[in-house]
Formats: sequence, structure tokens, C-alpha cells
Amino acid sequence: MKMVNSQNKSVYIHIPFCDTICSYCDFCKFLKNDEWIDKYLDSLEKEIKNNYKGEILDTIYIGGGTPSCLNKEQLTKLFNVIKVLNKNKECEFTFECNMENITEYKLKLLYENGVNRLSIGIQTFNEKYLSFLNRKHTKEEIANKIKICKEIGFKNINIDLIYGLPNQTLEELNSDIDEFLKLDITHISTYSLIIEPNTKIYIDNNKNIDEDLDYEMYKLICGKLKDNGYNHYEISNFSKKGYESKHNLTYWNNDNYYGFGLGASGYIDNVRYDNTKNINKYLSGEYVKESHKLNLNETIENEFILGLRKIKGIDKETFKKKYNKDIKEIEVVNKLIKENKLLEDEKNIYINKDYIYVSNDILVEFID
Ligand SMILES: C[S@@+](CC[C@H](N)C(=O)[O-])C[C@H]1O[C@@H](n2cnc3c(N)ncnc32)[C@H](O)[C@@H]1O
Ligand code: SF4
Repeated sequence: MKMVNSQNKSVYIHIPFCDTICSYCDFCKFLKNDEWIDKYLDSLEKEIKNNYKGEILDTIYIGGGTPSCLNKEQLTKLFNVIKVLNKNKECEFTFECNMENITEYKLKLLYENGVNRLSIGIQTFNEKYLSFLNRKHTKEEIANKIKICKEIGFKNINIDLIYGLPNQTLEELNSDIDEFLKLDITHISTYSLIIEPNTKIYIDNNKNIDEDLDYEMYKLICGKLKDNGYNHYEISNFSKKGYESKHNLTYWNNDNYYGFGLGASGYIDNVRYDNTKNINKYLSGEYVKESHKLNLNETIENEFILGLRKIKGIDKETFKKKYNKDIKEIEVVNKLIKENKLLEDEKNIYINKDYIYVSNDILVEFID
């Protein structure tokens, strides 16, 4: 069966350095070290030069780790490294920042180098939980720094918010959402806390909040954000109209993207690959740890697992064009429609809103 390959139009770049390590984080990151950063940027430059084929890009996302912990010289070097990337005029260019290292000069440097979207890890506005998470900013500095971002010209700003913190109450979350709304920014990504092994909060024996409370918190977030003009467009993501994350939509649309940097993942020409998380290997030019060429069934499986994360679901016509096959030919789709877990309208097939909170139970049905 014929399958149309989409062009590579997105690039993710991982910067695995942080000023401090948060108590809950098991991402690929290290405490900042200037010598490593220098070598890392050299290796990143080679990786990009060896693999990037010159496509015109719709999105670039520099994430981490904490890309904003790089100093002026390191940031300048990073922007030199990525000069080879061809951006289209409308390219969405996101840069992840932590509140504590947002400064006017860094923001200006980002802006001058074409960054037009900031993603800022705030997590909570509550001092008690900021300390629990080992985050280094204060509630007071948040509004002031967002103001600086806007003054410099950033119109598209995301913040990350974590909820479901041990002992957190609905009232405390409600107050966090109120504080977020006051910032009047375009996007919010919400995360229910996962207590990952090998993190401080796990070792300290913290326990997740009860599932019913987690569900109440999710409903509170969805309801309040909707009432305040935010469109719930993906299970955990909300935006003002027109400010959906184009980059993350690349993932959810099961489209191709390059992943460059330590621990980054990519999806190119039907191959999913994961880069090494071993910094020594990465610095010596051994970039990819494993890769796997997907067969048609696996590609379609991903189409559902990723695509149904979007609230509006999967576009039937796009599916047909991509796979030369009617979406209703997929047995599980019909089964889930009969069970009322999936709904369809003229254009799309999507998860019934009543099941969004338990969407994982639906998505696993697509795994062979
Ligand atoms: C890996 S971080 C990178 C961004 C940036 N360094 C920061 O911390 O703000 C991306 C986001 O994932 C979320 N996250 C990380 N670990 C998590 C966990 N254990 N449970 C829930 N969300 C988590 C946080 O909201 C964080 O902002
Ligand atoms: S959550 Fe972000 S800042 Fe904290 S350790 Fe992880 S990557 Fe670094």
C-alpha cells in the first residue's frame, strides 16, 4: 500500500544543562558546566551539518534542560550553530526558558535571533510548592518578568504548570490558575505530577494525590481555562485562538521532525530514532543510540496514538491521503465508535469529551 511521506519541516534541539536540578525531574540534563557546554555546541554543530538536508522549516524548538541557562557567549555560539537552518517566513521558533534566568539582555538576544515564542517553566505560583520542587524563582518575579518579555516584543508565550502536587488542594490549584490568567499570555501546558524513580521526591517517599482529586483538578483546569477564552486543543494543552503550538502539532500530526542533541528523538523518512543520553558518546560524535524503521501498521498505530491526543482528533480526508485507506476500514475505530468512546463528524474522528481524562485507556487499544 502506498504511503505519502511528509517532508521534514521541524527541528527539535536539546540543550541538556540546568543551573539546578529540580526534585521531580528525570529528563536528560546535567548541572551546567562551561567546558562541556562549549564542546557540546561543537558536537551539536557537527550533528546538524551531517544530517540536516536544507529543508525550509516551519518550526524550530530549542528545549531542555534549560537552554536559557547559557550565558551570552554560549547563546551567541548556539545561534551561530543553527544559522544553517532555513526558516520559512512564518517559522515558529520556540526557546525554553526558566524564570530565574530571564534577563533583558538574554531576551533581546533571543528576539534578535528570530525567536518568536517563549516557553517558560513556572510550574506553580505557590512558594511552598516552588520550594518542594526546588524551583528557584519567586512568585513576585513572575509578573514582572512576563512584562519584560512582552515589552521586548514576545507576543507568543507558553507557561508550563504542574498540578497534582502531594497534599495540594483544589483551592491552591484554583489560585495558581488565577495567577496564570492574570499574566494574559497565549498558551499553557499543564502536567499532572509524575513521581519518577531516581528523583528526589521519589526517594523522599512522596505519594501521588488520589485519582479522584486528580480528575477534579483536571476538570477545574479545563473549565476555568475555557471560561477565560483558552481553547482546549490537546489533552493537556490550551491556547488563545491561533496560538496552538505548531511545533507540538507536528508530533501529534505524526509528521516528520529532526531531533538534534543529547537524548533527542526524531522521526525522519519513517525512521524513529533516539539519540544517546551518554554525554561522552555524544561529544565523540556517536549521536544515535537506536533507530527503528516503522512498517505501515506501526505508522498507522502512531497516527492514532498521537492524533487522538488532539481534541478535534484526526482529519478523515488527511488520513485517506496519507494512507490511501479509509479511516473506517480500521477495525478498532469502528469498535470504539460503537462504544461511544470515539465520535465522528463530517471532517474528523475524535475522542468523546467524557473519555478525554482516561484517553490513555482508549489509545492503548490501537497498540497491536
Ligand atoms: C523537562 S522540562 C524542560 C523545561 C524547563 N527546563 C523547565 O523545567 O521549566 C519540561 C516540562 O515538563 C514538565 N515536567 C518535567 N518533569 C515532570 C514530572 N515528573 N511530572 C510532571 N511534569 C513534569 C514540567 O512542567 C516542565 O516544565
Ligand atoms: S525540570 Fe527543567 S530546570 Fe528542572 S532539572 Fe528538569 S530540565 Fe532542568
